Amino acid sequence: MPSMNVILDSLILFTGWAHVVLAPYTKVEESFNLHAVHDVIMYGVGAEGLPNYDHFVFPGAVPRTFVGSVLLAWLTKPVLRLATRLGYLSIKFDMQLLVRLVLATLNAATLCLIQRSTRRRFGLTASTFFTLFTCSQFHYPFWMGRTIPNMFATIPVNIATYILATRNYYYGRPSARSITGALSLVTFTAVVFRAEVALFLASLSMEILCHERITYTKLFKVGLVAGLLSIALTMYVDSYFWQRRWLWPEFSAVYFNVFQGKSADWGTSPWYTYFFLFLPKLLLGALPLSIVGFCIDQRIRTIIYPCLLFMFLISFLGHKEWRFIIYVVPVFNVAAAIGTKFLLYRWRHSWTGRLLALAITGIFCANFFATTLSIQSSMRNYPGGEALYLFHKLYPVDTYPTPHLYISNLAAQTGASLFLHLNSPPYGPFTPTSEQLNWTYNKTESLTPKTLSSYTSSITHIISETPPESDRYLDAQWHSVAVVRGFDRWKFDRTALKGKGDAAGKSLVTRLGDVLTIEESDKLWILERNGFKRIGF
Ligand SMILES: *[C@@H]1O[C@H](CO)[C@@H](O)[C@H](O)[C@H]1NC(C)=O
Ligand SMILES: *[C@@H]1O[C@H](CO)[C@@H](O)[C@H](O)[C@H]1NC(C)=O
Repeated sequence: MPSMNVILDSLILFTGWAHVVLAPYTKVEESFNLHAVHDVIMYGVGAEGLPNYDHFVFPGAVPRTFVGSVLLAWLTKPVLRLATRLGYLSIKFDMQLLVRLVLATLNAATLCLIQRSTRRRFGLTASTFFTLFTCSQFHYPFWMGRTIPNMFATIPVNIATYILATRNYYYGRPSARSITGALSLVTFTAVVFRAEVALFLASLSMEILCHERITYTKLFKVGLVAGLLSIALTMYVDSYFWQRRWLWPEFSAVYFNVFQGKSADWGTSPWYTYFFLFLPKLLLGALPLSIVGFCIDQRIRTIIYPCLLFMFLISFLGHKEWRFIIYVVPVFNVAAAIGTKFLLYRWRHSWTGRLLALAITGIFCANFFATTLSIQSSMRNYPGGEALYLFHKLYPVDTYPTPHLYISNLAAQTGASLFLHLNSPPYGPFTPTSEQLNWTYNKTESLTPKTLSSYTSSITHIISETPPESDRYLDAQWHSVAVVRGFDRWKFDRTALKGKGDAAGKSLVTRLGDVLTIEESDKLWILERNGFKRIGF
């Protein structure tokens, strides 16, 4: 019989992995770090490999840090070697899955730490509820294995949360050493990964100062030393990878977004967005229960206050995204677990208790239902990845003449990552089996249909975001080989339940399924140049 800790830990880990496997493709936000990991694995970090790196061709709006990607790539390498030896890898794309599984594992491990300390401090019931809330929510687990800077940042921040918020101090205060360690981790995160974490650092420091667990001088010293060391690290690493002097990417990002006001270009939201839209979206049913936890337990209040202050401070920035406050989710889940435990125990032997138990069961069911729907729609949201994968199924490796594929912008943004360039170098652990494995994947931006179709262009295939009929040049030169569909919206149709019209003769179960359906539309077209002769199969 495995211990309860092992069961709960596995549940968290399995949830993270399941999301990676269910939606293996990636979106544009992830691509910088994903491609950086790709390049570090494929070319190494030496000066001879550097010119091949993708970010010199597609640098993006502002430089971003390589620190997380290099660490992730180095951690993935031994796993990759093992998987190759055991014969688990068959195509380059499997490596993307592996990279994402490693990241999901790291994130899951930090949540497991919080699970274990919740158990130590609040008991098994609480840690069980913490785990159930965490696994039944959508956003956090879905993004656990996605290579955005925030999901690198959650790793050190969760460890700090574990040290500060939930370890041991039922029996006493955390030691000066643990406080120093936790604050250093958060400082490092703010400097290297995500500048908004600086506000979280400020909120934590306030809380720690209020409880006199550290003096101003000590706090200042810790911040200064950790800050300077982190700046030195990011400058050392990123100046090298970007080949620019004195580069500190997160500082450039803050300068660009906050001081030059560019972040407003991404859209602004009203002040209450974090409290009344994003927090409910992240927590789902755990939100009301976390309020109960907050009201009944002093220990919970001490860990929630810094989170509230952080959300308050970050609300002053016009541009708001749910990802900016993802760090508070585990803390609120601890609070929700305590709230749930309280409600279940307080009225244990009465009708109130039974009703409450029923309501809490309902909340979990609602969480799982909402998460299932979100997964269903998210899985269909990566047409670019699907199209490129399908392309390799349609055209075997020995296709001749060698395909020159143009990948449109939409396809590149919705999953067509470098790991899907299956038939062109670099191959990493895979040796190409044939001389002809030298396809061209062309992502040059904004080529017009006219350029693409011209007789001098060597392009043989297009993953196009418009159908060939929509353009004179495309229509004359190309034909569609396959169409990839993608998610548009959920459609709710109450009338489907009544067995009339279209629904006549269908069973009740089928009709129930028809009430809520996914609406899809054509997103991408795989086009082949007219007259392209496929020789070799
Ligand atoms: C692949 O194509 C490039 C340019 O088209 C060429 O320089 C290179 O030698 C080719 N590699 C192989 C293995 O055929
Ligand atoms: C992509 O296609 C355009 C237009 O045919 C061409 O000018 C460019 O060199 C191609 N890029 C690559 C990497 O082959």
